[in-house]
Amino acid sequence: EAPGARSGRLLEWYDRHARALPWRVLPAERAAGKQADPYHIWLSEVMLQQTTVATVKAYYEKFLRLWPTVEALASAPAETVMGAWAGLGYYARARNLHACAKAVAAEHKGRFPATETGLRTLPGIGEYTAAAIAAIAFDVPAAVVDGNIERVVTRLHAIDTPLPAGKALVKAHVAGMTPSRRPGDFAQAMMDLGATICTPRRPACVLCPLSEGCLARIAGTMELYPVKAAKKPK
Ligand code: ADE
Repeated sequence: EAPGARSGRLLEWYDRHARALPWRVLPAERAAGKQADPYHIWLSEVMLQQTTVATVKAYYEKFLRLWPTVEALASAPAETVMGAWAGLGYYARARNLHACAKAVAAEHKGRFPATETGLRTLPGIGEYTAAAIAAIAFDVPAAVVDGNIERVVTRLHAIDTPLPAGKALVKAHVAGMTPSRRPGDFAQAMMDLGATICTPRRPACVLCPLSEGCLARIAGTMELYPVKAAKKPK
């Protein structure tokens, strides 16, 4: 198979099946010239770190109503931000969110850095979030790996190295698959594939644009992946 054939099929699928999410610029909107707002992408990715898409939607809309720009969020009293976050959990994320908004406003003239390295200098932005923002907001071909993408890739390649040790191998496969055109849509397509088709139980392989070369699908072992290391007794 030609290099890029896989990402091409995935992007064609995404053009037809992308989920409409409040922070997302859909392929048709993108084609019409609309650009992703880095503030929107950052806010959604921080909220999505330990919370489901269904719960995040309402909080995301509320935050944008209260604070339409990163400068507005930076200027808000800490107690107001913590109050608006209540219910999302993991309150260190809210503290980091506010600290990050202040850093972007004060040190970056209100504009998010456009590289993974630049993004990593900001409070609360780790390896995953930096890659996701670089790809989705700035169309940098960063290798984005979240839980959904781990499941898709370990199945495609029947990766038996248990996670987290297998994570580097997964990331190398994602880096090899990521196209230089539309890397942000590619990352979001992988997330949607994992969320809607390549599900933990009973994946819908008949609907999958990547089923052809999927090693787990061929072996019928989809539900065995991802392999996870046994938890150490405490
Ligand atoms: N989960 C985390 N980030 C996401 C995104 N950008 N789209 C869909 N699901 C996600």
